[in-house]
Amino acid sequence: MDHFKEPRSRIPDSIMPVFGFSEADYRSITAYLSSRKTAPTFKNGEEIYKGLCVRCHGDKGDGKGVTYLYLDPAPRDLTKASFMNSKPDERFLKSLKEGVPGTSMPPWERVLSEDQRKEVLAYVFQNFVKEPRQPLKERKVPETNPVAFSPESVSAGEHIFLDRCTGCHGRKADGKGPNSLDISPRPRNLRNSAFINNASDKRLFTSITYGVEGTAMPSWTDYGLTQQDIGNLINFIRSLNRKPAPTPPDEKSPKLTSQLRVSK
Ligand code: HEC
Ligand code: HEC
Repeated sequence: MDHFKEPRSRIPDSIMPVFGFSEADYRSITAYLSSRKTAPTFKNGEEIYKGLCVRCHGDKGDGKGVTYLYLDPAPRDLTKASFMNSKPDERFLKSLKEGVPGTSMPPWERVLSEDQRKEVLAYVFQNFVKEPRQPLKERKVPETNPVAFSPESVSAGEHIFLDRCTGCHGRKADGKGPNSLDISPRPRNLRNSAFINNASDKRLFTSITYGVEGTAMPSWTDYGLTQQDIGNLINFIRSLNRKPAPTPPDEKSPKLTSQLRVSK
């Protein structure tokens, strides 16, 4: 109630105004607000899943919650063991904490504690993935793209892309190639900058080199691409998602009102 009467007594830089209510009004509003439930409480992973995840991932975990037709990319099918068992817990825990940028998978950091995020992931593995967690295959991929970003590399990457990748990802790399309609999950839109700019070189290298298990994305070393080719492809994909260079200040237009010369 002190906070309410005089916000800065509790939160020094509060911008909440001081209301001129009577003592009785303060007391009844405070009683009302404290009777409201604050955050929802969950007993276990199942309650978390049912409370927060079902609407997108569905009660069977197959990614077909009530919202799925409206979401692009679609919610992940959590029953697909080949996919789920090809990624480490750290990857999923990061996605649960921070969300998956460029998709509707929300960040749960402010809603669920770290333990709760682990509980709901354990629930997903027990009830949807079902197969025991597999030891991950050892994979050799560079942490960062060893091929320097240059116009030559981008153009070499574009060349390979147009040759190999457009059937699924489309000539515009927007994920809408001629074969994309029959594929689930759909090919990734490689112009989704929020997604691409948040995906590490290591992740892109892993996915292009080894494919994405449980999806149609193939392993490109199986099709003869070299590390140099994959580096060029990543530079090409990054070139589609470059943040525009800041526009140089326009010398002719005045920047501040004070610089305006008043003409009569
Ligand atoms: C508003 C819809 C929505 C809700 C709610 C939601 N998800 Fe997701 N989730 C998605 C989408 C979309 C993806 C696919 C992201 C992508 O394209 O990689 C996803 C991906 C995932 C993945 C895979 C992440 C990865 O790194 O590949 C896991 C695991 C997951 N969700 C679990 C959950 C759990 C557990 C909850 C509840 C706490 C939840 N999701 C709630 C939409 C949602
Ligand atoms: C047969 C169809 C198909 C072809 C051909 C294909 N892709 Fe994919 N690709 C997919 C699908 C499907 C996904 C989505 C996987 C998922 O749901 O995580 C994907 C995902 C990706 C991703 C995102 C990986 C990640 O970690 O999320 C990249 C990058 C990518 N593809 C690049 C390429 C490149 C480069 C080529 C050509 C050398 C290529 N793809 C060819 C189907 C294809």
